[in-house]
Order: sequence, then structure tokens, then C-alpha cells
Amino acid sequence: MDRGMVIFLGALLTFSSSWLGLILFPFWQLRDEKPLTKDGEDPYPVPLQGLALAGKTVYQNNGCMYCHTQQVRSERFGNWWDANGEQRTGADIRRSYGQRRTVSRDYIYDNPTMLGTMRTGPDLANIGVRNPSAPWHHTHLLNPRSANAWSIMPSFAFFYTREKVVGTRSDKALSLGREWTVNPGYRWKPSAKEWDAILAAQGPALAAQKGIDPASAEGKKQLLDYWLTTPEEDYQVIPNADGDALVAYLLALRKAEVPLPEAKE
Ligand code: HEC
Repeated sequence: MDRGMVIFLGALLTFSSSWLGLILFPFWQLRDEKPLTKDGEDPYPVPLQGLALAGKTVYQNNGCMYCHTQQVRSERFGNWWDANGEQRTGADIRRSYGQRRTVSRDYIYDNPTMLGTMRTGPDLANIGVRNPSAPWHHTHLLNPRSANAWSIMPSFAFFYTREKVVGTRSDKALSLGREWTVNPGYRWKPSAKEWDAILAAQGPALAAQKGIDPASAEGKKQLLDYWLTTPEEDYQVIPNADGDALVAYLLALRKAEVPLPEAKE
């Protein structure tokens, strides 16, 4: 055999084996994946619909998958160390990322899937079960530091509008303490100097209303607490369409919850 033939056959073998291994065999394995249907129970999984489906696009467009995965690893992976310093596996299940590992069937309606590669933040495959509170998610997206002071997640304040209340407060308005706000125009925890100015302007009226002595140290503390924990009455922060859709999507993420026969370990 001349050298050209060897190179040709070598290249053919390399490409055809990777095509077989990476495309054809997985295709054969996965093409018959169907939702799990049991009598008297809803099928699983079901395709995303409506607001949740729109929210997937928002998730994609805002790069959430650069920091968040949606894949719960099997109990054989993910190290952690127990109280005796012993190395154990199954960190994802231990962190309650899901009841079980995720398997291909969990993703049959996800196109594209949002598997992600980096675990900078927690896995979100099952966040709709782990934290089903829409107000929590809105407040967290508005300012992740409101949930965990150490959070490095960026603020997604552009999913929210702040506006003056005209007439009655909107049902969708978030209930925020005043320290939870982020952008200029939103209020934040005042500096000592700012607080002095606020006290000078509004302190006496507030104190009279609340029956607090504004001159005493205790009274000053009570006034600050009141200021920080009471939403501004004449302003409201409301999620826009993207914010609503994104939270609907997060709440619809319920993978690794319904038991599947192939997801044993
Ligand atoms: C730069 C990395 C980064 C990006 C981008 C990011 N996050 Fe996060 N996220 C984190 C980190 C770190 C945490 C853990 C701290 C916290 O709770 O804020 C987190 C926490 C979360 C949590 C709470 C999870 C739990 O288990 O409590 C949710 C929900 C979430 N992120 C959703 C999103 C969504 C939706 C987006 C896109 C709009 C996004 N994140 C973008 C880093 C990121």
C-alpha cells in the first residue's frame, strides 16, 4: 500500500468511527425516547408552553447558562467530604439539586437544551421544585445581593420598571424593603450623611406618626429600621414582560423530580 492510501484509509477510519460513535449510535439510542405515561398520572416530561416557553428565550438571551447548568449528576460524580474527612460522591443530590440524576428523557422537548457547562451558580434543572416562590425569584433577579450578600450573580434590574403609583398599587408590584434597590433612581441604604439629611427632612413627621422619640439613640435606630423595611409608598417596582416570562420558565424547571426507571443511581 502506498502512503497516500494509508493516509486516506486512516482518515476514513477516524472520521467514520467518530461519526458512528457520536452521531449514529446516540441517534439510535435516543430516537425512541418518549414521555413517561402512567395511568392516572400526567405524562412526563411535557413541552413548555406560553409564558414559560417565552421565558426560555429570555434565559437564552441573557446568558444564564454561562453560570448555571441544568444537569443533575449521578451519585457516582461530584465529590464532597463527610465529617470524618472521607471523600464521598453525589454532591448534586446532596445539595438537593434534584431527587435523582437527570437522563436524556428529561430533555426530549428542550431544543436547544440549556445544559450549560459552568457551575458558577447552583444547578437550575429543578429550581421550580426547590424554590417555587415567584416573588423570591423576582427580588433575587432584581438584586441577587438581597438574598445572599456574597452573591456574584449580576443584577437583572432591567426586567423591572420603577414607577409612581397612580391610583392603587399594581397586583404585580414587588414588595421590597427600601434597601433592596439597585439602580440610580431606585433607593438604597442611605449613607450616614444621607440618613442625616433624610432624618432632618422627614424624621419629626415619621417619629410623630410612629410614636418614636427621634432624639434618642434607640429612636434613631427604630426610624432607620422602619425606613429600610417599609416599601416606598408612592413608588412600585413591577416586572416587565421578560421578567414575568423568565420567572415562569424558572418555575417550570422541574427536572429530576418525577422518578424515571432508567435514572437509578
Ligand atoms: C456571573 C454568573 C451568573 C449569571 C450570568 C447568572 N447567575 Fe444566577 N447565580 C449565580 C450565583 C453565583 C448564584 C448563587 C448566589 C445567589 O443565590 O445569588 C446564583 C443563583 C441563582 C438562583 C438561585 C438558585 C438557588 O438554588 O437558590 C437562580 C434562580 C438564578 N441564579 C437564576 C439566574 C438566571 C435566571 C440568570 C439569567 C437571567 C442567572 N441566574 C444568571 C451566578 C450567575
